[in-house]
Amino acid sequence: MTSMPQITSLFERPITLPDSDAQARLARLVGMDDKIRRLANILSLLINPAGLKAWQAKHHGEAASLLEVVLRRPPLVILAGDVGSGKTELAETIGDKVARQEDLDITLLPLSLSSRGQGRVGEMTQLVSSAFEHAYNEATKVKGSGAKARGGVILLIDEADALAQSRESEQMHHEDRAGVNAFIRGIDKLASARLPVAVLMCTNRLSALDPAVRRRAADVLVFSRPTLEQREHLLTLWFSQLGFTALQIQALAQATGESDRTPYGYTFSDLTQRLLPTIVLDAYPDNSVTAERALDLVRSIAPTPPFKDGPQAVN
Ligand SMILES: Nc1ncnc2c1ncn2[C@@H]1O[C@H](COP(=O)(O)OP(=O)(O)O)[C@@H](O)[C@H]1O
Ligand SMILES: [Mg+2]
Repeated sequence: MTSMPQITSLFERPITLPDSDAQARLARLVGMDDKIRRLANILSLLINPAGLKAWQAKHHGEAASLLEVVLRRPPLVILAGDVGSGKTELAETIGDKVARQEDLDITLLPLSLSSRGQGRVGEMTQLVSSAFEHAYNEATKVKGSGAKARGGVILLIDEADALAQSRESEQMHHEDRAGVNAFIRGIDKLASARLPVAVLMCTNRLSALDPAVRRRAADVLVFSRPTLEQREHLLTLWFSQLGFTALQIQALAQATGESDRTPYGYTFSDLTQRLLPTIVLDAYPDNSVTAERALDLVRSIAPTPPFKDGPQAVN
């Protein structure tokens, strides 16, 4: 077994929340109000149970036993669904809201498994184990002696498709299976220690989620492509300031949806990372952006195909 990696080399960029950049990114997410509230509340509960106890004392003074069940949630929330639908964006920024709401500092430890752990045998397992160990140590430091923690920790395991696969799957690689087991061990250890820590796992593979992992999730949030209304909302934010009319924006919202050509529409990231830059760079440096040209460009950009989330995707 190799020695434990340093915290700075293991996690891409540990950040401390609240943080104004995270706050602004969270505020830019469209159509996520329900998810934001739900996730912020679960994380608050896991990181600062004292807050819920204070709420109970204030509103339901007689019902102390009610909370025991709620407080015993497993420290894991899964964000699952289509590519480019805002899982990473939400996971990286939600801690800002929690930190402000609960008035404590939160350390976000982000680990992406897509680019990591593909190499030597045992590497992914080692990464997962080390990530949990770091999260455990960080959370122990801020636990404090009183009822209220001095801070909290969010461990983000992003692009965790390999860990989402079922252990029962025949085709599952031995190394992936060991990774899933390390993940489960990590969750269980955090749960029994009752530390101010929560784990967020992001995956594109909802249907392949390992039952043992799913059972340990306090909640599973499912992400999908933007609806017509959400596309219109986003396009309005961008293009009304360029003088597009409501009708022109509606036409763009329609054209970025499903069509005879494709049975699926644009993802959020197709809109933000492909369409908007294409429209702007097409006009630069000599022309202004026009609605007619924008509509032409939409027709030239095909939506990203949905992530194949079935048994056929197992390799
Ligand atoms: N609900 C949303 N509203 C606005 N922009 C979004 C939304 N969801 C995603 N995006 C944009 O799409 C990009 C990709 O999102 P990301 O969180 O990386 O997707 P995922 O992790 O689900 O594949 C982000 O940079 C973000 O700007
Ligand atoms: Mg992502």
